[in-house]
Amino acid sequence: MKKIIIITGANRGLGKALVDMSIKDENTLIVSLSRSLHEEHKYLVDSKLIFIKTDLSDSFSVSVFDIIGKHIQYDDTLYFFNNASVILPIDRIGNLSELDIERSIKVNVQYPVNFINFLLNQYPKNKTVLVNISSGAGNNPISFWSLYGAAKAYMNLFFKVLETENKENINISIFSIDPGVLDTGMQQNIRDNNFPNQDYFISLKEENKLIKPEDVVLSIFNEINY
Ligand SMILES: NC(=O)c1ccc[n+]([C@@H]2O[C@H](COP(=O)([O-])OP(=O)(O)OC[C@H]3O[C@@H](n4cnc5c(N)ncnc54)[C@H](OP(=O)(O)O)[C@@H]3O)[C@@H](O)[C@H]2O)c1
Repeated sequence: MKKIIIITGANRGLGKALVDMSIKDENTLIVSLSRSLHEEHKYLVDSKLIFIKTDLSDSFSVSVFDIIGKHIQYDDTLYFFNNASVILPIDRIGNLSELDIERSIKVNVQYPVNFINFLLNQYPKNKTVLVNISSGAGNNPISFWSLYGAAKAYMNLFFKVLETENKENINISIFSIDPGVLDTGMQQNIRDNNFPNQDYFISLKEENKLIKPEDVVLSIFNEINY
Protein backbone atom coordinates (compact mmCIF):
# COMPACT_ATOMS: atom_id res chain seq x y z
CA MET A 1 0.00 0.00 0.00
CA LYS A 2 1.97 2.97 -1.27
CA LYS A 3 1.45 6.41 -2.70
CA ILE A 4 2.15 6.80 -6.40
CA ILE A 5 2.69 10.48 -7.14
CA ILE A 6 2.49 11.34 -10.83
CA ILE A 7 3.73 14.86 -11.60
CA THR A 8 3.94 16.64 -14.94
CA GLY A 9 6.81 19.12 -15.27
CA ALA A 10 8.73 17.75 -12.28
CA ASN A 11 12.15 19.04 -13.35
CA ARG A 12 11.88 22.65 -12.14
CA GLY A 13 9.67 25.22 -10.45
CA LEU A 14 6.69 24.00 -8.46
CA GLY A 15 6.98 20.48 -9.94
CA LYS A 16 10.52 20.08 -8.61
CA ALA A 17 9.41 21.26 -5.18
CA LEU A 18 6.57 18.71 -5.28
CA VAL A 19 9.14 15.96 -5.87
CA ASP A 20 11.47 17.28 -3.15
CA MET A 21 8.70 17.34 -0.55
CA SER A 22 7.03 14.06 -1.63
CA ILE A 23 10.17 11.94 -1.32
CA LYS A 24 10.32 12.68 2.39
CA ASP A 25 7.50 10.17 2.73
CA GLU A 26 9.10 6.67 2.78
CA ASN A 27 6.15 4.97 1.21
CA THR A 28 6.15 6.92 -2.02
CA LEU A 29 6.95 6.27 -5.66
CA ILE A 30 7.17 9.33 -7.88
CA VAL A 31 6.46 9.25 -11.60
CA SER A 32 7.89 12.22 -13.44
CA LEU A 33 6.32 13.03 -16.80
CA SER A 34 8.81 15.66 -17.88
CA ARG A 35 11.18 16.56 -20.68
CA SER A 36 14.21 16.30 -18.41
CA LEU A 37 15.35 15.10 -15.01
CA HIS A 38 16.73 17.59 -12.49
CA GLU A 39 20.36 16.86 -11.51
CA GLU A 40 19.32 16.59 -7.83
CA HIS A 41 16.78 13.87 -8.66
CA LYS A 42 19.13 11.52 -10.53
CA TYR A 43 19.97 9.50 -7.40
CA LEU A 44 16.25 8.76 -6.91
CA VAL A 45 15.79 7.03 -10.25
CA ASP A 46 14.65 3.39 -10.03
CA SER A 47 14.31 3.22 -6.24
CA LYS A 48 12.03 6.23 -5.63
CA LEU A 49 11.41 7.90 -8.97
CA ILE A 50 10.46 6.72 -12.43
CA PHE A 51 11.39 9.21 -15.09
CA ILE A 52 9.31 8.93 -18.24
CA LYS A 53 10.73 11.39 -20.71
CA THR A 54 7.65 13.16 -21.97
CA ASP A 55 7.07 16.18 -24.16
CA LEU A 56 3.51 17.13 -23.32
CA SER A 57 3.15 18.91 -26.64
CA ASP A 58 3.37 15.52 -28.34
CA SER A 59 0.14 13.59 -28.74
CA PHE A 60 -0.90 11.66 -25.64
CA SER A 61 -0.15 7.95 -25.93
CA VAL A 62 -1.59 5.28 -23.63
CA SER A 63 1.82 3.56 -23.83
CA VAL A 64 2.85 5.71 -20.86
CA PHE A 65 0.60 3.42 -18.80
CA ASP A 66 2.58 0.36 -19.91
CA ILE A 67 5.33 1.73 -17.65
CA ILE A 68 3.24 3.24 -14.85
CA GLY A 69 0.87 0.27 -14.70
CA LYS A 70 3.66 -2.15 -13.77
CA HIS A 71 4.02 -0.37 -10.45
CA ILE A 72 0.35 0.06 -9.51
CA GLN A 73 -1.14 -2.37 -6.97
CA TYR A 74 -4.85 -2.51 -6.14
CA ASP A 75 -4.33 -0.87 -2.72
CA ASP A 76 -2.07 1.99 -3.86
CA THR A 77 -3.27 5.57 -3.69
CA LEU A 78 -2.72 7.39 -6.97
CA TYR A 79 -1.96 11.11 -7.03
CA PHE A 80 -1.90 13.09 -10.25
CA PHE A 81 -0.60 16.66 -10.19
CA ASN A 82 -1.48 18.55 -13.35
CA ASN A 83 1.41 20.92 -12.85
CA ALA A 84 3.28 21.51 -16.11
CA SER A 85 2.15 24.54 -18.00
CA VAL A 86 3.31 26.97 -20.64
CA ILE A 87 2.44 30.66 -20.46
CA LEU A 88 4.14 31.65 -23.71
CA PRO A 89 3.33 33.19 -26.10
CA ILE A 90 2.58 36.42 -24.25
CA ASP A 91 1.21 38.50 -27.10
CA ARG A 92 -1.87 40.17 -28.53
CA ILE A 93 -4.49 38.01 -30.25
CA GLY A 94 -3.73 38.49 -33.93
CA ASN A 95 0.00 37.94 -33.42
CA LEU A 96 -0.16 34.33 -32.25
CA SER A 97 1.37 31.64 -34.44
CA GLU A 98 -0.47 28.45 -35.30
CA LEU A 99 2.35 26.45 -33.71
CA ASP A 100 2.16 28.41 -30.44
CA ILE A 101 -1.62 27.96 -30.27
CA GLU A 102 -1.25 24.22 -30.82
CA ARG A 103 1.54 23.86 -28.25
CA SER A 104 -0.36 25.78 -25.59
CA ILE A 105 -3.51 23.71 -26.04
CA LYS A 106 -1.60 20.42 -26.08
CA VAL A 107 0.51 21.05 -22.97
CA ASN A 108 -2.07 22.92 -20.91
CA VAL A 109 -5.21 21.00 -21.86
CA GLN A 110 -4.98 18.07 -24.24
CA TYR A 111 -2.34 16.00 -22.46
CA PRO A 112 -3.71 16.29 -18.90
CA VAL A 113 -7.31 15.73 -20.01
CA ASN A 114 -6.34 12.57 -21.90
CA PHE A 115 -4.18 11.37 -19.02
CA ILE A 116 -6.93 11.80 -16.41
CA ASN A 117 -9.52 10.23 -18.68
CA PHE A 118 -7.37 7.13 -19.17
CA LEU A 119 -6.29 6.93 -15.52
CA LEU A 120 -9.90 6.90 -14.28
CA ASN A 121 -10.86 4.37 -16.94
CA GLN A 122 -8.06 1.94 -16.04
CA TYR A 123 -7.93 2.26 -12.25
CA PRO A 124 -11.50 2.94 -11.05
CA LYS A 125 -10.97 1.01 -7.80
CA ASN A 126 -7.81 2.70 -6.55
CA LYS A 127 -8.02 5.66 -4.24
CA THR A 128 -7.19 8.58 -6.52
CA VAL A 129 -6.35 12.20 -5.78
CA LEU A 130 -6.40 14.57 -8.74
CA VAL A 131 -4.83 17.98 -8.27
CA ASN A 132 -5.06 20.73 -10.84
CA ILE A 133 -2.59 23.58 -10.38
CA SER A 134 -4.78 26.46 -11.45
CA SER A 135 -4.19 30.18 -11.76
CA GLY A 136 -6.03 33.45 -11.24
CA ALA A 137 -5.45 33.93 -14.98
CA GLY A 138 -8.15 31.30 -15.56
CA ASN A 139 -10.77 33.53 -13.92
CA ASN A 140 -9.79 37.00 -15.15
CA PRO A 141 -8.97 38.19 -18.65
CA ILE A 142 -5.35 39.40 -18.73
CA SER A 143 -4.31 41.12 -21.96
CA PHE A 144 -1.72 39.15 -23.96
CA TRP A 145 -2.27 35.98 -21.84
CA SER A 146 -5.17 34.66 -23.93
CA LEU A 147 -3.93 31.12 -24.56
CA TYR A 148 -2.70 30.51 -21.03
CA GLY A 149 -5.78 32.04 -19.35
CA ALA A 150 -8.21 30.20 -21.62
CA ALA A 151 -6.42 26.90 -20.97
CA LYS A 152 -6.53 27.47 -17.21
CA ALA A 153 -10.27 28.28 -17.47
CA TYR A 154 -10.79 25.04 -19.43
CA MET A 155 -9.02 22.96 -16.77
CA ASN A 156 -10.93 24.71 -13.97
CA LEU A 157 -14.24 23.73 -15.51
CA PHE A 158 -13.01 20.24 -16.37
CA PHE A 159 -12.12 19.74 -12.70
CA LYS A 160 -15.50 21.14 -11.59
CA VAL A 161 -17.23 18.56 -13.78
CA LEU A 162 -14.91 15.84 -12.44
CA GLU A 163 -15.93 16.84 -8.94
CA THR A 164 -19.62 16.85 -9.83
CA GLU A 165 -19.43 13.43 -11.49
CA ASN A 166 -17.62 11.95 -8.51
CA LYS A 167 -19.60 13.48 -5.63
CA GLU A 168 -20.71 10.04 -4.43
CA ASN A 169 -17.41 8.33 -5.21
CA ILE A 170 -15.45 7.89 -1.98
CA ASN A 171 -12.39 6.74 -3.94
CA ILE A 172 -11.78 10.01 -5.74
CA SER A 173 -10.73 13.40 -4.37
CA ILE A 174 -10.54 16.41 -6.65
CA PHE A 175 -8.70 19.68 -6.05
CA SER A 176 -8.03 22.80 -8.09
CA ILE A 177 -5.45 24.90 -6.30
CA ASP A 178 -4.18 28.37 -7.23
CA PRO A 179 -0.61 28.51 -5.89
CA GLY A 180 -0.28 32.32 -5.96
CA VAL A 181 2.58 34.19 -7.64
CA LEU A 182 5.67 31.98 -7.46
CA ASP A 183 9.36 32.64 -7.80
CA THR A 184 9.88 30.29 -10.77
CA GLY A 185 10.82 30.30 -14.42
CA MET A 186 7.27 31.18 -15.36
CA GLN A 187 7.58 34.54 -13.62
CA GLN A 188 10.86 35.07 -15.49
CA ASN A 189 8.94 34.49 -18.75
CA ILE A 190 6.39 37.05 -17.59
CA ARG A 191 9.01 39.68 -16.69
CA ASP A 192 10.83 39.11 -20.02
CA ASN A 193 7.81 39.77 -22.22
CA ASN A 194 6.09 43.08 -22.90
CA PHE A 195 2.42 43.30 -22.02
CA PRO A 196 0.25 45.97 -20.41
CA ASN A 197 0.63 44.72 -16.82
CA GLN A 198 4.32 43.75 -17.02
CA ASP A 199 5.53 46.42 -14.54
CA TYR A 200 3.38 44.98 -11.78
CA PHE A 201 5.08 41.57 -12.09
CA ILE A 202 8.55 43.17 -12.26
CA SER A 203 7.75 45.03 -9.03
CA LEU A 204 6.66 41.81 -7.29
CA LYS A 205 10.14 40.37 -7.92
CA GLU A 206 11.94 43.58 -6.95
CA GLU A 207 9.96 43.83 -3.73
CA ASN A 208 10.58 40.18 -2.85
CA LYS A 209 6.89 39.37 -2.95
CA LEU A 210 7.13 36.13 -4.91
CA ILE A 211 6.30 32.94 -3.04
CA LYS A 212 8.85 30.12 -2.75
CA PRO A 213 7.57 26.92 -4.42
CA GLU A 214 8.44 24.85 -1.30
CA ASP A 215 6.12 27.02 0.82
CA VAL A 216 3.29 26.45 -1.62
CA VAL A 217 3.82 22.70 -1.60
CA LEU A 218 3.34 22.68 2.17
CA SER A 219 -0.01 24.41 1.83
CA ILE A 220 -1.02 22.15 -1.09
CA PHE A 221 -0.20 19.04 1.01
CA ASN A 222 -2.18 20.51 3.85
CA GLU A 223 -5.18 21.15 1.61
CA ILE A 224 -5.18 17.67 0.08
CA ASN A 225 -4.46 15.94 3.43
CA TYR A 226 -1.29 14.40 2.04
N1 LIG B 1 4.68 30.88 -11.37
C1 LIG B 1 3.56 31.47 -11.01
O1 LIG B 1 3.55 32.63 -10.58
C2 LIG B 1 2.25 30.73 -11.11
C3 LIG B 1 1.07 31.39 -10.74
C4 LIG B 1 -0.14 30.69 -10.82
C5 LIG B 1 -0.15 29.39 -11.27
N2 LIG B 1 1.02 28.79 -11.63
C6 LIG B 1 0.96 27.41 -12.10
O2 LIG B 1 1.86 26.61 -11.36
C7 LIG B 1 2.28 25.50 -12.18
C8 LIG B 1 3.78 25.37 -12.13
O3 LIG B 1 4.33 26.53 -12.73
P1 LIG B 1 5.83 27.00 -12.44
O4 LIG B 1 5.72 28.36 -11.89
O5 LIG B 1 6.58 25.96 -11.71
O6 LIG B 1 6.33 27.13 -13.96
P2 LIG B 1 7.75 26.88 -14.62
O7 LIG B 1 8.83 27.18 -13.66
O8 LIG B 1 7.71 27.63 -15.91
O9 LIG B 1 7.73 25.31 -14.90
C9 LIG B 1 6.89 24.80 -15.89
C10 LIG B 1 7.05 23.30 -15.95
O10 LIG B 1 6.25 22.84 -17.04
C11 LIG B 1 7.07 22.03 -17.87
N3 LIG B 1 6.69 22.04 -19.27
C12 LIG B 1 6.41 23.09 -20.06
N4 LIG B 1 6.20 22.68 -21.33
C13 LIG B 1 6.37 21.32 -21.33
C14 LIG B 1 6.31 20.31 -22.32
N5 LIG B 1 6.05 20.60 -23.61
N6 LIG B 1 6.52 19.03 -21.96
C15 LIG B 1 6.85 18.71 -20.68
N7 LIG B 1 6.92 19.63 -19.68
C16 LIG B 1 6.69 20.92 -20.02
C17 LIG B 1 8.46 22.64 -17.73
O11 LIG B 1 9.43 21.73 -18.19
P3 LIG B 1 10.65 22.16 -19.19
O12 LIG B 1 11.80 22.52 -18.29
O13 LIG B 1 10.90 20.96 -20.00
O14 LIG B 1 10.17 23.33 -19.99
C18 LIG B 1 8.49 22.88 -16.23
O15 LIG B 1 8.79 21.71 -15.54
C19 LIG B 1 1.72 25.77 -13.58
O16 LIG B 1 0.54 25.03 -13.77
C20 LIG B 1 1.40 27.25 -13.54
O17 LIG B 1 0.39 27.59 -14.44
C21 LIG B 1 2.22 29.41 -11.56
